[in-house]
Amino acid sequence: KNRSPDDLRSPVCVVMGHVDTGKTKLLDKIRRTNVQEGEAGGITQQIGATYFPMDNLRNITERLNKDLSIDVKLPGLLVIDTPGHESFANLRHRGSSSANVAVLVVDIMHGLEQQTIESIKMLRAKRVPFVCAINKVDRCYGWQPLPGAPIRESLAQQPENVFSEFETRTQQVITQLMEQGLNAKLYYENKRFKQVVSLVPTSAHTGEGIPDLLMVLLTLTQRLMVEQLMFSPIMEATVLDVKKIEGVGTTVDVLLMNGKLRRGDTIVVAGMNGPIVTQIRALLTPQPAKEMRVKGEFVHHEELRAAMGVKIAAQNLEDAIAGTSMFLLTDDDDEDELKDAVMAD
Ligand code: GTP
Ligand code: MG
Ligand code: NA
Repeated sequence: KNRSPDDLRSPVCVVMGHVDTGKTKLLDKIRRTNVQEGEAGGITQQIGATYFPMDNLRNITERLNKDLSIDVKLPGLLVIDTPGHESFANLRHRGSSSANVAVLVVDIMHGLEQQTIESIKMLRAKRVPFVCAINKVDRCYGWQPLPGAPIRESLAQQPENVFSEFETRTQQVITQLMEQGLNAKLYYENKRFKQVVSLVPTSAHTGEGIPDLLMVLLTLTQRLMVEQLMFSPIMEATVLDVKKIEGVGTTVDVLLMNGKLRRGDTIVVAGMNGPIVTQIRALLTPQPAKEMRVKGEFVHHEELRAAMGVKIAAQNLEDAIAGTSMFLLTDDDDEDELKDAVMAD
């Protein structure tokens, strides 16, 4: 009764792949930010969250959507960036656990690598459907960039030898995916979204293929996941990170997957020394299309709707544990039951 196909929440999309394939850079291009260059050694070491409102996505996909004209009812897209370095498998697990859909990023010059294969295994085990971005196409020798263009426009204007290198390398990726038991096709040749992995050639440097990537994600989620994406009043969230912030105290970065959070709500989270029951003092988000990890202006909210990356300020969060569920304590709930549930997670 509470759920309707006209009332959808934003899908959660996790970006995964081997180290340095360009995951953060792709998001930087979409956000018009420079998060990657601020990272120590250019290596992502945390989970990031960015909310893209639909207006923002509509602008980027406009040129493509003229032909396809899908009617997107989703409010937006919440994108989770993960580290590709081998030592952060736990963060990849955490990031992919709550995802509705994923982008697996492959470097066209390298093909499938160790963490690409690890990511495929994780996504399949968690049954998260994914598309594969074949990134860094601009590194094909002699590439003629067409900044921000849909990928077919860009491919159409490449000299023959460049197009031929692109085709050979893409075919190699298709063969390597086949070795992992996956059928894959360039997305514009793929009519079987559910059975066949769509490949989207991209460049995070020139922005080519990014309209395509977003369009494919929106189409996939809107067509295949309406049931899963119907807004539910039951709050669902996990703790992504625990952080000390100057002037605010200890905060938790939370991935709100369904339902709503309000300032003043009582939450239950797992702590090193037992369950923590505390009241939300502030509900914060970065500006739309900005990254959660980055220091900057946070926006205060009275109420937030899923899906969203949320920073929560409250007392007693010092020993909160990342990677566990967060519950709401309402008048109808049994506090001891929730405390047990949160510690069992
Ligand atoms: P981790 O998060 O550490 O796993 O890396 P990542 O996958 O986020 O890759 P990142 O965005 O840090 O990019 C790695 C390097 O590749 C940087 O030097 C980027 O500038 C470069 N790079 C990323 N995308 C592209 C691209 O499309 N073309 C070219 N030429 N270089 C790229
Ligand atoms: Mg990164
Ligand atoms: Na990197």
